[in-house]
Amino acid sequence: MSIPQINFLHPSLGDLLAARPALKMHAQDGLCFEGVPLNAIADEFGTPAWVYGAGTIRARYAALRDAFAAAGLTPHIHYAVKANDHLAILSVLREMGAGADVVSLGEFLRAQKVGVAAAQIVFSGVGKTVADMTAALAAGIGQINVESAAELDFLSAAASAMGTTAKIALRVNPDVDAGTHAKITTGKADNKFGIPAAEILELYARAASLPGIEPVGLALHIGSQIQSPAPYAKAYAKAAALVLALREAGQVVDVLDLGGGLGIGYGDEPGISLAAFANMARREVGGLGVKLLLEPGRYLVGPAGLLLASVILEKHGEKKRFVVLDAAMNDLLRPALYDAYHGILPVSAVDFVSSCSPADVVGPVCETGDIFAAARDLPVFAPGARIAILDAGAYGAVMSSTYNARPRAAAVLVNEGRSKIISPRQRTEDLWAHERIP
Ligand code: LLP
Repeated sequence: MSIPQINFLHPSLGDLLAARPALKMHAQDGLCFEGVPLNAIADEFGTPAWVYGAGTIRARYAALRDAFAAAGLTPHIHYAVKANDHLAILSVLREMGAGADVVSLGEFLRAQKVGVAAAQIVFSGVGKTVADMTAALAAGIGQINVESAAELDFLSAAASAMGTTAKIALRVNPDVDAGTHAKITTGKADNKFGIPAAEILELYARAASLPGIEPVGLALHIGSQIQSPAPYAKAYAKAAALVLALREAGQVVDVLDLGGGLGIGYGDEPGISLAAFANMARREVGGLGVKLLLEPGRYLVGPAGLLLASVILEKHGEKKRFVVLDAAMNDLLRPALYDAYHGILPVSAVDFVSSCSPADVVGPVCETGDIFAAARDLPVFAPGARIAILDAGAYGAVMSSTYNARPRAAAVLVNEGRSKIISPRQRTEDLWAHERIP
């Protein structure tokens, strides 16, 4: 499996800090996030703790919206709830005007819980159950992205039995390599997602003839953490050709859902250029006269979160120095699952300027894969020293578990200089509170 991130990732501590406007190092207070000292957050709420910044989310939402506006496009932004489904985060995005992209009834209900209108929600996913689709239809879901002929039939039966009509888009699999990690590539012919382009015309016509179904357009999503507009351009060109062919065949096509996947900079990589992405979208699909949808997740919330942890101890193996944290793979799984890089910064200003040497940063879980960083240049930490694992706002807490009977970490939202708890740390007894011994 290719792990493309790994080659270009050796920013210094200073580079990591300089590239992140929400983070500042103060001589006395140490590392601050959106103006709040992380030490104060750790003192009040303990570690490990997820720390999110509302200001960063708002700024990133605005940057995406404005880049498209500058390119003459006004897509509807449907935040991909899977990236971070915390009600407080969803609330910040709803206030900015975001709709939602959901992949389960649970995500649908979360979005509704914070007041996202059902009409502003798109339901994606390769295995939506009839029960889930029925519940979403009953609530007035705006659009269901259908991924197979079988699903179309289930939905037609369900919608017509309810006496309602489901607005659907067909999700195309454009067979394009997004140039990202194999485990998060979704638009290649051998991926489970979407419908082969060659089958779209026939299935769209069938959809138009089915009871309870109103096809409104096409959708695609080619992968995640994509660094370049180039693979998108290929996929969008295919989608544009399909829109024209469908219209030629007499079909109505009003919507094109461009998916998500916009990549961020975890290490040295710059992240996708919003201007280049928006201009590419204008070139490829700007003239189609369709309503455009976007489904970004990581781009909006990834850099808006960090995992604050404490050093339990350092130990020296025969060949290596290990920094053992109180956070582990059960909290942030991405390094273990994808060999993903996350920047790590000391919270104390003294640690930040101390000389560095290579160390493996690991958690207490009983697996060798429980590692946050290998051979990372870091200062020597005293027990209790705090560190921040950066860019953990997307696919962090949502992918966490209680493996090794480790309670879920607390979550804190920083907003306008104040920090508030948004999920208290799980208590150990909560781990078994729902269990029964027959
Ligand atoms: N729309 C659909 C249909 C998706 O499947 C996804 C992500 C998105 C939108 C949002 O993609 P984003 O803008 O966040 O890249 N756990 C992995 C990422 C999995 C992404 C799955 N689908 C990770 O930690 O990198």
